[in-house]
Amino acid sequence: MSRLEDLYSHLPDAPSDKTLAKADFEARHWSSAIPGPLKPGTEEHKRAVADMFRETFNPYKPSVIEWPRLDPDTLHRITSLPIWDIAVQTEGKARLRMAAYADMIDDPDMKDALRRNAWEENRHKEVLSKLVEAYNIPMAPEPPYIEPKDTEWAYLVTGFSECVDSFFAFGLFALAERAGLFPMELIETFEPVMQEECRHILLFANWLAWHRATMRGGNVRSLKRVFSVYGLFWLMNVWIWRDRSMPKVMNIRRITTSP
Ligand SMILES: [Fe+2]
Ligand SMILES: [Fe+2]
Repeated sequence: MSRLEDLYSHLPDAPSDKTLAKADFEARHWSSAIPGPLKPGTEEHKRAVADMFRETFNPYKPSVIEWPRLDPDTLHRITSLPIWDIAVQTEGKARLRMAAYADMIDDPDMKDALRRNAWEENRHKEVLSKLVEAYNIPMAPEPPYIEPKDTEWAYLVTGFSECVDSFFAFGLFALAERAGLFPMELIETFEPVMQEECRHILLFANWLAWHRATMRGGNVRSLKRVFSVYGLFWLMNVWIWRDRSMPKVMNIRRITTSP
């Protein structure tokens, strides 16, 4: 099997409009050739998951993204967000954990989908690194990325984290867009990344359904442990959201709704 870095080794510098339109269409409208519901745990379901992930790939290249020029206020707003270190490191960690879990599993379809997911996490990291460079955002040195001891647990935590993080991040992104906090060109630059995160969640949810339908013994205990921890994690997030983030969001909403 090829190295992760070689999965998509020939991305065009500038994909044609037709290619990009096709990728955008597939990401929004892809469906399996098999009609009707797919039962988790079956070969058809598992193959459809892998096909979906492969066929909805967007061939954009981080190194050629043109970052829009920002006025001083917007630039300050972007550079002062306290998220860049953690965002870059989260993508690096996700790549490592997904690749490690993909190496561990035997099923060729799920292995293929998870390796592609790991590759895309690395591309997110590259996108963020390019943004940081373009806007001169000071960054702390990255800590070493260490292979997880419990590979499946680490993958589960990463998968659930993507679901929780996206729930809040997509909403905040939409509010920031409506409030005009960021220019439209910058928001559009992130559209493929947001679409990818949606695909990652779709893959994770389907992998989880497949895994639950096919696993045995110790794995069941591991999954129950994750569900309990994530129940608590979710409640904690809701609490933080209500007490810390909600007042800020209400301010943004006031900006968006004020005449
Ligand atoms: Fe990501
Ligand atoms: Fe992701």
